[in-house]
Amino acid sequence: MHINHTLNVDLGERSYPIYIGSELLDQADLIARHIHGQSALIVSNDTVAPLYLEAVQQALDSKQIRQDKIILADGEQHKTMASVESILDLLLSSRHDRRSTIIALGGGVIGDIAGFAASIYQRGVNFIQIPTTLLSQVDSSVGGKTGVNHPLGKNMIGAFYQPQCVIADIASLRTLPRRELSAGLAEVIKYGLICDAGFFDWLEINIGGLLAGDEELLAQAVLVSCQNKARVVELDEREGGLRAILNLGHTFGHAIETTMGYGKWLHGEAVAAGMVMAIDLSIREGSIDEQVRQRGVALLKQAALPVNPPPEMTVEQFLDAMAIDKKNVDGKIKLILLRALGEAFVTDQYSHEKLLQTLTARPVAP
Ligand code: NAD
Ligand code: GLY
Repeated sequence: MHINHTLNVDLGERSYPIYIGSELLDQADLIARHIHGQSALIVSNDTVAPLYLEAVQQALDSKQIRQDKIILADGEQHKTMASVESILDLLLSSRHDRRSTIIALGGGVIGDIAGFAASIYQRGVNFIQIPTTLLSQVDSSVGGKTGVNHPLGKNMIGAFYQPQCVIADIASLRTLPRRELSAGLAEVIKYGLICDAGFFDWLEINIGGLLAGDEELLAQAVLVSCQNKARVVELDEREGGLRAILNLGHTFGHAIETTMGYGKWLHGEAVAAGMVMAIDLSIREGSIDEQVRQRGVALLKQAALPVNPPPEMTVEQFLDAMAIDKKNVDGKIKLILLRALGEAFVTDQYSHEKLLQTLTARPVAP
């Protein structure tokens, strides 16, 4: 089977292609085309490197590109400034110059860390995203958000920094654990909920095949997700307004991740539960009807995702963690709510009473 799509993210001089296909890591020309200097640093982790590092190294070798590698410990708890510093140490000690390229090989954690390092090393060097999880292929590798966590808040330190290209090799998903595939499907379902009702219908039909790892269906889901994300990012690259819709469920979800301890709940799992909470509040606010919850919850459950937040989390813990969110202005928590299935909006004009009801009325799922 040969899958091959190219999609362009149109951002003027920061435009770049997203390649979606099978066995792309073996295509030396594809990677080499986006390396401008003579050297590169591959950033990966100790789970992904044994699987895919050699393919990338061979591609670079075949083009005589000098390369270093840094293999970080796996896990969200390592998405820290300390990891960024270890990358900077290696770049400096190995004399990488401003024409060097940083290649992120891994999931969203590696992409976010490596992208942030690329944004600050010598005020910015080339950066290539090779996302190897479904979540990173449909979301984190696209759009230029990079950064790390702080103990007090998720993704609180970072920069907007677009890559030179994104290489999403669908074949790399063959080794992805089932739980991680589900976590990625949370962000896929998000696009249906926020801006693409037709895609939501398609997902309802194809969720079984996606979970079973059907590569044609996965490639289609990655393509449509990236098209939706690119469209939003092109309109609002630095999140002046619209881009925040990509954060449906994330304010609740980030609160879950931070409170439970980074890495306990996968990002996609926390987002899934958070999206149901956002749907619940939208219903309380009267902007959507109960049917949206039923369809949303059913699809998330079919994707083997949680639809309720952790039972042990208190309202106070939610409010504390939600108070530290990049969308907040002047102490007001901004939330993404739904106006319809396929239409989201950003608001701080919701009833605090109803938010408290959403936070207390758990479990919200039927
Ligand atoms: P992850 O990077 O932790 O990867 C999940 C797990 O899968 C890890 O254990 C990883 O080592 C492993 N893995 C990766 N590729 C694999 C493969 N092909 N085969 C087997 N195992 C593999 O998590 P993620 O879900 O990819 O990304 C989540 C992170 O992305 C969070 O930190 C989140 O905040 C961030 N994120 C960022 C953005 C953005 O716009 N920058 C958007 C969404 C999420
Ligand atoms: N994942 C949210 C964004 O890229 O804006």
